[in-house]
Amino acid sequence: MKLVLASKNAKKLVEMNTILSQLGIEVCSEAEAGVDIDVEETGTTFEENSLLKAQAVMQASGMPAIADDSGLCVDALQGAPGVYSARYGGEGLDDVGRYRLLLENMEGQSPRTAKFVSVITCCFPNGDVISARGECPGTITYAPFGEGGFGYDPVFFLPGLKKTMAQLTPEEKNAVSHRGQALEAFKVKLEEYLSK
Ligand code: IMP
Repeated sequence: MKLVLASKNAKKLVEMNTILSQLGIEVCSEAEAGVDIDVEETGTTFEENSLLKAQAVMQASGMPAIADDSGLCVDALQGAPGVYSARYGGEGLDDVGRYRLLLENMEGQSPRTAKFVSVITCCFPNGDVISARGECPGTITYAPFGEGGFGYDPVFFLPGLKKTMAQLTPEEKNAVSHRGQALEAFKVKLEEYLSK
């Protein structure tokens, strides 16, 4: 079976193929499926946004489509930046600007606990939907550490590993990350669905 990934992110395509190829599933890009869709993420939950993206690409391509929506939820900031993680601080900021803003907003705050969340949704042309959620708990550092990963990785500390997400190899990150866990849970649900 072939699924289209509702994203332009080449790294996500590789990650999804690595795990789903174990089920004999191939995940292709929007370009390979002949679609180019920019979905407005108007939802207020990760579930809503991943459904919006997967549904739009499924409808445009006529193929089953898979999407992931993810972000960082910080307890002392009442779950912010959450679904707005990619847009935190507005359009003018890059990844470094966004995590600096987060560190500023965390000054004097406690606790510093947070979690990364990822929700993966697959929409089929017959109306069926499969969805899975993964979470990775950690704390927000006082300064950035590490060069790997992307986004908020340099300021997200994993107490169990005593490293930030940006200090992990891609393999180590996949083993603990929200997206890795959501993908594993999704794989189990998809396997169940396909065996019915
Ligand atoms: P999206 O799911 O591609 O819309 O990503 C949402 C945003 O959440 C990203 O732009 C990052 O800022 C943040 N984010 C999601 N996953 C990660 C991660 O694994 N590490 C660091 N930041 C992440």
